[in-house]
Amino acid sequence: MEILILPDADAVAARAAGIVQDMVSHRPDAVLGLATGSTPVAMYRRLVERHRAGGLSFAGITTFNLDEYLGLPEGSPLGYRRFMREHLFDHIDIDPANTHLPECAPGADPRTVGPAYEDAIRSAGGIDLQVLGIGANGHIGFNEPGSSLGSRTRIKTLAQRTVDDNSRLLGEGETQPGLAITMGIATITAARRILLLATGEHKARAVALAFEGPLTAMHPASALQMHPRVRVILDEPAASELAQQRYYHWVEEQNESIAARHGGSADEDPWFHPSVDERDD
Ligand code: GLP
Repeated sequence: MEILILPDADAVAARAAGIVQDMVSHRPDAVLGLATGSTPVAMYRRLVERHRAGGLSFAGITTFNLDEYLGLPEGSPLGYRRFMREHLFDHIDIDPANTHLPECAPGADPRTVGPAYEDAIRSAGGIDLQVLGIGANGHIGFNEPGSSLGSRTRIKTLAQRTVDDNSRLLGEGETQPGLAITMGIATITAARRILLLATGEHKARAVALAFEGPLTAMHPASALQMHPRVRVILDEPAASELAQQRYYHWVEEQNESIAARHGGSADEDPWFHPSVDERDD
């Protein structure tokens, strides 16, 4: 678990975009796990800019999003496919057929979506890099407190806190759905690498509990403590409740000095960097 604290949300987005870019460049057929929410928007904007500037192609990339609301009216602006198209897919050269969300077709039994999604992830070879945000209640994807740490993609009833938090994005006449289909915690932690982003003081408590608190289903992001290749990138407000902030800065200085002496960048942790092939792990 590497915790990187940067001055502001802009720096978080730039560093995160660099990590995704590294993955896409090293492995042009990579499978990316993607997140919605306001946090990754600035990172997506940077990826779009880098694609437009040339040299960053998503033509061979496959994506799986973490989650999608269940029971939205067709064409609802709240839909996460629409979100992904608006912020990323429509502006890069990805093949739309390779972009996946756990969507339930009208009239279909939503209980069939999870197992089919798990099969699709498996058939694609598993997720190389999963991008995550964190909910103020510690959720990842829509795995609310109490979610099994061994859970797989399934229907989840949203917690009141999540419904309230996400209602801020509603347009006039729209109501916040109370159900979603989400990758499970075991689905997320099966990804080979995980990149969690958090910005803003309103995430500080959730971040501190996730990475310095006990491993518990009551704070689902704490499950990441068990994963060998997690990078957490925070701005200072989101890091403000971490007790070990000075140590995390010190670790980053050491990484930079190792990179200065031996080449490459501070992001070249051999367990995280995409040049290392751990598909056979
Ligand atoms: C949403 C999503 C999560 C996201 C989180 C935080 O409900 N299901 O994947 O990480 O809540 O969202 P935001 O980045 O807007 O704070």
